Amino acid sequence: MIVHASIKDYEVRFEDGFESVAAALTEDAPFVVADRKVYALYPHLFEAVASDTLFLLDAEEEKKVIDSALDICRTMAAMGAKRNARLVSVGGGITQDVTGFAANILYRGIAWTFVPTTLLAACDSCIGGKTSLNFEGYKNLLGTFYPPDRILIVPSFFETLSEADLASGLGEVVKFNVMGGFGALSGLEASVDGLLALDPETVNRFVRRSLEFKKGIIEEDEFDGGRRVLLNFAHTFGHAFEASSSYAIPHGSAVALGMVAADAVSASRGMLSAELRVRIEALVAKIMPPFAPALIDDGAVLSAIMSDKKQTGQGITAVLLDENLELEVVHDMAPAEVALGCVAARRFLEGVRQA
Ligand SMILES: NC(=O)c1ccc[n+]([C@@H]2O[C@H](COP(=O)([O-])OP(=O)(O)OC[C@H]3O[C@@H](n4cnc5c(N)ncnc54)[C@H](O)[C@@H]3O)[C@@H](O)[C@H]2O)c1
Ligand SMILES: [Zn+2]
Repeated sequence: MIVHASIKDYEVRFEDGFESVAAALTEDAPFVVADRKVYALYPHLFEAVASDTLFLLDAEEEKKVIDSALDICRTMAAMGAKRNARLVSVGGGITQDVTGFAANILYRGIAWTFVPTTLLAACDSCIGGKTSLNFEGYKNLLGTFYPPDRILIVPSFFETLSEADLASGLGEVVKFNVMGGFGALSGLEASVDGLLALDPETVNRFVRRSLEFKKGIIEEDEFDGGRRVLLNFAHTFGHAFEASSSYAIPHGSAVALGMVAADAVSASRGMLSAELRVRIEALVAKIMPPFAPALIDDGAVLSAIMSDKKQTGQGITAVLLDENLELEVVHDMAPAEVALGCVAARRFLEGVRQA
């Protein structure tokens, strides 16, 4: 798959085994940044990488800061890296954000290959070119657009993900397939069990489908000026659930729960039928871990939404779903509707725990 972008076109390659990753890690002696956990789980992949060209990163939100990106630049500069240096990073969304930022600012941009090792990074964040760092306690406040030159997707990596990280990635997959219309929704309903069992063919198909859907939007609106706002579907509530739970609910699961909340708002506005809502919730229930309903606190969620950098106007902006599975951007979501969404999310989580 080729993604067209103004800075450069880049390639997403789906690979069956780890050979291509091992090759990318040795060809032309690149500088390597690896998620420390991935390095420990797959030591054989890194055998041929010299220790002074290897940087291990702890995949924690506290490490997704400019100091980590500068540490990478510092180490590369100390090694004598020049403008033709290449960087290969192996890990999830945190590794991607930090290395993408470093690759962008070093010599105004060096060559970069990214190997996503989480389902979330593979099905969503690896394309689109955003690099985001947390700053002064604000999530993703600093950032640039700098896509990798090449993305290598090896679904076998997902087999070692924790249940929570797998569920988080599945949250984004469900979101993309709800946004994708009725064909995509029924396709997911038929295949969700295969996805949960990590059936390789099913995982490949859905990662590809998610990326194709996102590619269609980002190629039309690369820099977030128009249609790309649709990708925020389920993210107004999602980001707030993530932040107000202090990341106890990880990104993709928060987004799936955000979809439940946003759909409750759609339903109360008469945009979405109970029948369609039940269908979507049944899918989300299959992939939702048993989080404590008390993690959703109305006041904390509302203040997280109000401090979100995407909220620039008077009313609250959100993307809502309608009965045709079409998305509508609204700028008038009221605090009472946020509360209604929170009630729906809590009720949903109670149901998941009882099931
Ligand atoms: N740049 C973007 O466009 C974009 C989009 C969405 C999300 N994000 C960011 O991505 C981050 C979340 O991404 P993520 O869920 O991939 O998180 P992550 O990078 O934190 O990885 C999640 C956990 O999985 C572990 N891990 C990674 N690969 C593994 C493997 N193969 N086996 C076992 N464990 C493995 C990591 O060590 C970590 O503990 C957030 O910071 C979010 O803001 C960025
Ligand atoms: Zn997301």
